[in-house]
Amino acid sequence: RPRVLSGIQPTAGSFHLGNYLGAVRQWVALQETHDAFYMVVDLHAITVPQDPAELRANTRLAAAQLLAAGLDPERCTLFVQSHVPEHAQLGWVMNCLTGFGEAGRMTQFKDKSAKQGADRATVGLFTYPILQVADILLYQANEVPVGEDQRQHIELTRDLAERFNTRFGETFTVPAPYILKETAKIYDLQDPTVKMSKSASTPKGLINLLDEPKTTAKKVKSAVTDTETVIRFDPERKPGVSNLLTIMSTLTGTPVADLERGYEGKMYGALKTDLAEVMVGFVTPFRARTQEYLDDPETLDSILAKGAEKARAVAGETLAQTYEKVGFLPAK
Ligand code: TYM
Repeated sequence: RPRVLSGIQPTAGSFHLGNYLGAVRQWVALQETHDAFYMVVDLHAITVPQDPAELRANTRLAAAQLLAAGLDPERCTLFVQSHVPEHAQLGWVMNCLTGFGEAGRMTQFKDKSAKQGADRATVGLFTYPILQVADILLYQANEVPVGEDQRQHIELTRDLAERFNTRFGETFTVPAPYILKETAKIYDLQDPTVKMSKSASTPKGLINLLDEPKTTAKKVKSAVTDTETVIRFDPERKPGVSNLLTIMSTLTGTPVADLERGYEGKMYGALKTDLAEVMVGFVTPFRARTQEYLDDPETLDSILAKGAEKARAVAGETLAQTYEKVGFLPAK
């Protein structure tokens, strides 16, 4: 079985619709066909200040949401990044392989540090993509299921894997991004020209999966569209309507062309009402399942402990090979 690995930050509390459609949904599907490793990336989370108690709670919450979304610990390995010390260890080796300028070209760092100001952005934020490289290479992943915003980090991973292999001999699998075109970028419902995100979206434009279903329905119904009246998929000229069609199509499994045909002669309100209903039907059981996992922290923690053990078996082997290639003296 080919291997996949991916991660999600626990910072946000509730996952948003972009996280789900862009990434987590694919994770669920891929556990059936791939040897799948998925993790909650708490080491990445502390690149910006975190309240310790909140970070701990959000890490459990993220794991609970992943299980509620359909990850099955019998079919995949689900773990917390800090439970596997090899991530930080390989991260250091990768830091020493990356050019300063090369790291400086990462657009997510540039965006985030510009927002925070040079003095407040940490060195951890700067080297964040390099830790992500280590995450992926430790598992010899063939594919990495993510949204479009992570593409550059996967490219860096490929570059560093090839660089290491050239310098020290064949060690790492060079991974490919697994990005589904349709859902690579889900947009803000209020400003459908920017991606949906915790940091950039307006509260009304951001669909949190753990919001009250009523709130979700309201947000869908007040989504920004355009001044035409035709329901047609045209991301250039009709970004709002196209975003709604993408979401509807993915959640219902109906091709966009069929939706266009079905809504011929109908107004935007009809699409929004239907989508609101579909969203409520999706988030209601999702919230309930998440709560069930949260209500049983012992089971949740033992799933994560088993996951960490499986992850360490793989990560430990890759790290040992890497240390040997680099020339570290083995400890007796
Ligand atoms: P994070 O936590 O920001 O996001 C988790 C996943 O959600 C996707 N995503 C979206 N997809 C489509 N439309 C959107 N509007 C949208 N917003 C978010 C992201 O692309 C991502 O796949 N650096 C990563 C976490 C990470 C990782 C890894 C991923 C750490 N190590 C190793 C893969 C492999 C991040 O911050 O994702």
